[in-house]
Amino acid sequence: MLQPDGRAIAGAADIIRRGGLVAFPTETVYGLGAAATNPLAVERIFQVKGRPADNPLIVHVSGREQVGAVAASVSEMAEQLMNHFWPGPLSLILPRSPVVPQSVSAGLPTVAVRMPDHPAALQLINAAGVPLAAPSANRSGRPSPTTARHVLKDLAGRIDAVLDGGPCMIGVESTVLDITGSEPLILRPGAVTAAELESVLGCFVRYARWENGPPPSPGMKYRHYAPRAALILITGLPRRRERLTQSLAAYFRRRGFRVGLLDLSTSACGGDPFADAERAARYLYRALRAFDARGTEIILAQELPDQGLGVAVMNRLTKAAARIIKA
Ligand code: TXA
Ligand code: MG
Repeated sequence: MLQPDGRAIAGAADIIRRGGLVAFPTETVYGLGAAATNPLAVERIFQVKGRPADNPLIVHVSGREQVGAVAASVSEMAEQLMNHFWPGPLSLILPRSPVVPQSVSAGLPTVAVRMPDHPAALQLINAAGVPLAAPSANRSGRPSPTTARHVLKDLAGRIDAVLDGGPCMIGVESTVLDITGSEPLILRPGAVTAAELESVLGCFVRYARWENGPPPSPGMKYRHYAPRAALILITGLPRRRERLTQSLAAYFRRRGFRVGLLDLSTSACGGDPFADAERAARYLYRALRAFDARGTEIILAQELPDQGLGVAVMNRLTKAAARIIKA
C-alpha cells in the first residue's frame, strides 16, 4: 500500500508498463488498473477478480487526445459530453479502435471510456503513458471498494500495489452512457444523473431496459455488489416501511439471526433528499462491508427516493438484494 506521492506514482507507473496490476483511487470507487493495450495484463485483471470474461472493462484516460487512440471515432455528442462532464463520473460507450484488445471489451465492437476526477488516478495514467483498463478493485460480485483497505481485503497477494488516496468522494460507480445508437441510453445509473445529461444534450435520456435477447450491457446479467449477508430491501411508504423493518428485525432476532439495519434514508441532512442520497452513496459499500466484518447474517435495508444519486443507490441495492418486500 503506497501513499500516492511522486515516487510511489513513478513506481506504480513502472509496474503498469511492465504488465502489472495497480489499484488506484478515483472519485467513485477504487479501480484495478492495467495497461489497456497489453492483452496479457488485461487477462490478469479478469483472473484476479474472478470476473466473467464476457463482462467488459472501462478504459481510463487522463487526456482527450487518448480518446482518439482508443475509440475508432468520436461523435459530436461525445465531444459535448466530455467537455461538460470530464474529468468526472461519466463513462461513454464509443466505437472501439483496434488498438484496444478485444478482451478489454469482451469482444464487443465498442469500448467504455472515462476520465476520472482524482489527482492520483490522473497522475498514474500520465506517468504510465498509456490508458488504463480498470474495473472496480473488488473480487467479482462483492461490494466495490471505497478505501485502499477494502481493496486489500479482497485482493491482497493477487495484485502488485495499491495507491492509498483515502475514502472515495462519491462512493458508487460512474454512470455508463451508450451513445453509439440512435439515442443516448443509460446502461448503469451513477453520479451523473439523467436530468443533468438531458440539460446538456437537450434531448430525453432513457435507461436501457433488458427485456429479451442479450442484455444492453453485459454487467446487467450478474448479481453484483452483494455482501455475504442476505440483504432484504424494504420498499413502500416510510411509516409502513419502518414498521415492517422493526417487526422483521424482531422476528429474525428471535430465531437467533444476527440482524443489521441499513437505513440510508435517515435524514442527517435536514430532510433534503438530494443531500441524503449523496450521503447514502458515499457510505453504501462501506456499510455493506462493515456488516460482513461483524458477521451480520441478515441486512434489512430501506429504499431511498429515486432522486439525484438515489437512482444509483437503489440500482445497487436492488442488485445486491436477495429479496425485495413491499411494506
Ligand atoms: O466508476 C467506475 O466506473 C469504476 C471506476 C474504477 O472507474 N469502474 C467500474 O468498472 O465500475 P466495472 O468494471 O466494475 O463496471 C463496468 C461496467 C460494467 O457494468 C460493464 O458491463 C459496463 O461497464 N461496460 C464496460 N464496457 C462496456 C461496453 N463496451 N458496452 C456496454 N457496457 C460496458
Ligand atoms: Mg464492478
